[in-house]
Amino acid sequence: MFSTRVTALLAPNRFARALAAHRAGGRPLIDLTESNPTRAGFDYPRDLLAPLADARALRYDPHPFGSIDARTAVAKEYARHGLTIAPQRIVLTASTSDAYSMLFKLLADAGDEVLVPRPSYPLFDHLTRLDLASARPYDLEYHGTWTLDLASVERALTPRTRAALIVSPNNPTGSFVSRAEIDGLAARCAPRAIAIIADEVFADYELEEGSAGRAGRVSARRDVLSFALGGFSKSIGLPQVKLGWIAVTGPDRLVESALERLEVICDAYLAVSTPVQVAAEDLLNRGAGIRHQIAERVKANYRHLQSAAASAPACTVLRSDGGWYAVLQVPSLESEEDLVVGLLQSENVVVHPGYFFDFARESFLVVSLLPPPAAFADGIARVLRRFRTP
Ligand SMILES: Cc1ncc(COP(=O)(O)O)c(C=O)c1O
Repeated sequence: MFSTRVTALLAPNRFARALAAHRAGGRPLIDLTESNPTRAGFDYPRDLLAPLADARALRYDPHPFGSIDARTAVAKEYARHGLTIAPQRIVLTASTSDAYSMLFKLLADAGDEVLVPRPSYPLFDHLTRLDLASARPYDLEYHGTWTLDLASVERALTPRTRAALIVSPNNPTGSFVSRAEIDGLAARCAPRAIAIIADEVFADYELEEGSAGRAGRVSARRDVLSFALGGFSKSIGLPQVKLGWIAVTGPDRLVESALERLEVICDAYLAVSTPVQVAAEDLLNRGAGIRHQIAERVKANYRHLQSAAASAPACTVLRSDGGWYAVLQVPSLESEEDLVVGLLQSENVVVHPGYFFDFARESFLVVSLLPPPAAFADGIARVLRRFRTP
């Protein structure tokens, strides 16, 4: 009866079962996987969302790409990053995940392929599959810093490749994609009519000074059809407000053809609410305070992690240039699954195992840098003491 877009329901794995049992037992827990900024103790002014009640939203006057005022407000966000994008080339969506779905519908037929980074955010398999496409990995490699392995991109290309996806900075490696890497990617994509999709949701969060400035931005180029993605969920810490966007750039002729088709797709759904469009500019201005708090918090927790790990020589913090996550390489004394279940049961701390993100080998732990500093420091101390030699 049901489509195969949704994977057959899988039984929860051992880690998920252990976590559910821990929570059900009411045991204490330090959650170093927290990705939801609204649960991480930031100061959200009580009236922050007041602009959503603007009476202008009482009138419904839909446009497939959203109101020009809201798109202009998003264009100003790009200007803040030194990028000039015409509001007419900005498409509003309900979230970044929604933007992915619009783009897969635009670019891929059933069975087509999208190149995705590995390691990366585990949602891509799922999102491509829901649109009948499939994700093919290319590799990011670590040697003191992460680089995009262009040879692995070449190997992953097939006649069915329709898009190459980059995440900059990436979740969880924290690596920005450099200008030279985008050059390499564009040189391989443009001649084959492959578009680049650049997920830049964490672009505001720099962990290592100067790294955001050195990053490449697809929106600055005209040689390859590109789609840059952003949204409220990360840029101002408001995932519940549901506003994302796509900035379309590249050769004019291709941009125009893409926009014509996107208009048909977006018109079929009209997924973005009027109140959020009316409030967009105001919320982007008010949200700067939340962004600032998050940026300071993730930097401070990253620095703390580096200094705490210095006293545990068996553990290494991988360089993370930006974003909300950090990666800890730890000795492989047991499987990652045994390790994370052990940390949960004996230390009351939850971290993500590297295999969730498809790291090439074990053992890596991924931690969120969002938790309040005291809880973060306590959680990290519990993780590290497992590897400290007496
Ligand atoms: C790299 C990346 N892209 C997109 C998203 C989803 O963002 P949204 O809430 O706008 O759908 C996430 C969420 O964690 C993410 O890590």
